[in-house]
Amino acid sequence: MTPDSQNPAIALEGLSYAFGAGETAKQVLFDISLSLAPGEFAIMTGPSGSGKTTLLSLVGALRRPQSGKLNCIGHDLHGLEGAELEGYRQQLGFIFQLHNLFPALTAFQSVQMATDLHPEPGAEANDRIRALLTRLGLGERMDYRPHQLSGGQRQRVAIARALVHRPALVLADEPTAALDSENTQIVLQLLADLAHERGTTVLMVTQDSRVFESADRLINLVDGRLDSDVRRTD
Ligand SMILES: Nc1ncnc2c1ncn2[C@@H]1O[C@H](COP(=O)(O)OP(=O)(O)OP(=O)(O)O)[C@@H](O)[C@H]1O
Ligand SMILES: [Mg+2]
Repeated sequence: MTPDSQNPAIALEGLSYAFGAGETAKQVLFDISLSLAPGEFAIMTGPSGSGKTTLLSLVGALRRPQSGKLNCIGHDLHGLEGAELEGYRQQLGFIFQLHNLFPALTAFQSVQMATDLHPEPGAEANDRIRALLTRLGLGERMDYRPHQLSGGQRQRVAIARALVHRPALVLADEPTAALDSENTQIVLQLLADLAHERGTTVLMVTQDSRVFESADRLINLVDGRLDSDVRRTD
């Protein structure tokens, strides 16, 4: 991992974002420049309302910035449309702050839905789904529907769903918020292994100071501005 890599996985330059337009516009991100190397595991923290989810949604191409540059895993997100936009999104693993699972699907089916977008031999995909759910402590719960699962179990299903297709870039918004410390460690280890063994770039929002030490980078956002960006050296 080279901090000043020529080909960063995420490169933001002078990025600003406002909700609404004209007199009612509310600017929430101000002139953010940030670069993450492939395989880097970065944690973003900051007070509620500081713009963390908004920043993730820009990187995930769910919104478009009004100004600044935004390049992610080889795509310029500015003019991204149609098939290229679709192709970009398929390389992402998005773990949302509000992880909505479809009530009618079992844990296994929820994760399977994500692999349906990426055709491959069924048996291999199914083995991977089982291995991932088992690693996340849901081996006995694969055939349960959301209403039969606890909040933390649902959250782990959503994490498996986001990771099963081996995304190049993982964007995670408070993925451990509903988890006890044992499951938090399991999820963090999984994300760290993806980053360090597979070269997956991980940008994770969390307020949980217990997990900061897992990350290679600690980025703090305050009032829509980059307040600090610390790289761990060990
Ligand atoms: N759809 C929206 N329309 C208008 N303003 C919004 C919208 N979504 C978020 N905001 C505002 O943008 C600011 C940043 O919100 P954001 O959700 O990015 O914060 P956050 O850092 O993720 O907070 P939290 O830690 O509570 O999740 C907040 O002031 C919020 O009120
Ligand atoms: Mg948020």
